[in-house]
Amino acid sequence: MATIKCIGILTSGGDAPGMNAAIRAVTRAAIYNGLRVKGIYRGYKGLVTGEILEFKTQNVSNIIHQGGTILKTARCKEFTTPEGRALAYENMRKEEIDALVIIGGDGSLTGARIFAQEYDVPCIGLPGTIDNDLYGTDTTIGYDTALNTILDAVDKIRDTATSHERLFFVEVMGRDAGFLALNGAIAAGAEAAIIPEFSTEVDQLAEFIKNGFRKSKNSSIVLVAESDITGGAMALAERVKNEYPQYDVRVSILGHLQRGGRPTAHDRIIASRMGTASIEALMEGQRNVMIGIEHDEIVYVPFTKAIKNDKPIKKELVNVLNSLSI
Ligand code: F6P
Repeated sequence: MATIKCIGILTSGGDAPGMNAAIRAVTRAAIYNGLRVKGIYRGYKGLVTGEILEFKTQNVSNIIHQGGTILKTARCKEFTTPEGRALAYENMRKEEIDALVIIGGDGSLTGARIFAQEYDVPCIGLPGTIDNDLYGTDTTIGYDTALNTILDAVDKIRDTATSHERLFFVEVMGRDAGFLALNGAIAAGAEAAIIPEFSTEVDQLAEFIKNGFRKSKNSSIVLVAESDITGGAMALAERVKNEYPQYDVRVSILGHLQRGGRPTAHDRIIASRMGTASIEALMEGQRNVMIGIEHDEIVYVPFTKAIKNDKPIKKELVNVLNSLSI
């Protein structure tokens, strides 16, 4: 096995708060262990076009508290083609990069898995996504910050919901996963969460809300995960409005504000731990694994396992929400 002297680092896919903390950790841990570091800009695109810069410890100073990613990010079409990946490999050789650390979600790790297989390049992934949808890790970099952003927004929406006695549908991100919606609903004290993992009939939901209104509540907040399965907050609100015209229904789609902002302490800490672990993993000879945290311990999750499996969402959380939202 060739010795690793220089690593390349990139962020790919949707940005997530804490990515900068991860870039800092990977860079500093690598330099601490005697390795050179090269920053690759705009995700895999920078690897294909050769937008690469040598990083010293100062390149990552004063970034731990910033959202977004100083390396920029992109979803790169060229890298999904064999020609694009051939160019990427050429640039790696030119820049003397021996291994890659990729920070991103499942699409980014899928790219890494294919590239590693084709060119025998050691790749380590860090789970960087607000969606928390990667299998084999309890949490992902950016998820906690996004959850807190949702909480902040819903707390504010509650003021209007209560004052006007309205029923609010709040749509949150998550692609096809309901972690943000379900845990957001529990933390915000919402009445219900509509998530793709567990189906909720509109009638059931309306009945539930009706009971709430009738009993003790004069306002309700329902968190809806964006997804083709749930249909999104707009569609759901339309149906409820048509069938129950007596309710004053409003919709709020939180959108990309969930991806921005200063990372929480939790996200900075896991990014720092995972970033440091990525260098240790490479030095131990690990390849093609994602660094995860399970039961507060660092774990190595093979790419195939992290990407291919649907991360289960605990039914217990649904029960908690249902029993506390009476
Ligand atoms: O994966 C992160 C995420 O924010 C998803 O929750 C969302 O579906 C998607 O990215 C949005 O992507 P874009 O910023 O490209 O519209």
